[in-house]
Amino acid sequence: METTEFQAYVHALRERTDAALRRVLPPADAVPVRLHAALSYAVLQGGKRIRPLLVHAAGHALGASPELLDGPACAVELIHAYSLVHDDLPAMDDDDLRRGQPTVHRAYDEATAILVGDALQTLAFAQLARAEAGERQSALLHALSEGAMDMVRGQALDLSLVGTQTDIATLQTLHALKTGALIRAAVRLGGLCAGSPEDPRLDALDSYARAIGLAFQIQDDILDETEDTATLGKRQGADRALDKPTFVSLLGLDRARERARQEVERALTALSGFDSAADPLRHIARYIVERNH
Ligand code: IPE
Ligand code: IPE
Ligand code: MG
Ligand code: MG
Ligand code: MG
Repeated sequence: METTEFQAYVHALRERTDAALRRVLPPADAVPVRLHAALSYAVLQGGKRIRPLLVHAAGHALGASPELLDGPACAVELIHAYSLVHDDLPAMDDDDLRRGQPTVHRAYDEATAILVGDALQTLAFAQLARAEAGERQSALLHALSEGAMDMVRGQALDLSLVGTQTDIATLQTLHALKTGALIRAAVRLGGLCAGSPEDPRLDALDSYARAIGLAFQIQDDILDETEDTATLGKRQGADRALDKPTFVSLLGLDRARERARQEVERALTALSGFDSAADPLRHIARYIVERNH
């Protein structure tokens, strides 16, 4: 797959995902209007849609039909959106800017932001309760609940390590939980839509997902240091300001970059037994460390 073909694939899937997300959100003018407007605000104002893309690309690699993938793709993006709304709250990272706009608690208020997270989490699981999931439904529910729970564990660990001397093994565990877990869930959801939970190819996809999950958060740590606020759409230097342990604070920029690249190589190796149907997954792995926001 050529780069231009991949770009068109990404564009089409973003449009598809946005349309699917618009269908699952309550109408913004329904009562209570403030909550529903805030839900749309949290979900539909930009975002790279990497996790829905991973659901589709993993499903594509194993031959799942795109219609089956829309529900799981929305589910994982809704969990992600909820995690961002809560991550930005004053009690957590206390951020004012997200996706180039005021964060939900700044545009609305804290209580609304908490409720938006609650609602998005419930709506996410509702997407897997839809009829087309059929017999794979319990495996899908298990994958998403595990990913969502690990993300919460990671967020707790993230907060507990602020200002401490952290070693790289602990930081890697933290990143695997707070960010890697939902990325793994995205890939597994896509894979499950193609076949049985016992399909050995799911293990190879999981090795891929673990590697890109770590690379993704290392790159997030790097960009916090190297890009500007306008490019990021979130406050530059937030990690340093909060004294967060990151791959950059522990290893420095060059070694952090090197480590992210190693993880991408590991991810590509995990896909060596797959044919060209896995090309979108291969492009996504490279994109993760080449992106600037
Ligand atoms: C940001 O995720 C939070 C992390 C887990 C690093 P993304 O970089 O995927 O954020 P959006 O969805 O594109 O805004
Ligand atoms: C957030 O990590 C991971 C989540 C579970 C939301 P960060 O706190 O580094 O994410 P950003 O940089 O605010 O997007
Ligand atoms: Mg955080
Ligand atoms: Mg944050
Ligand atoms: Mg960050």
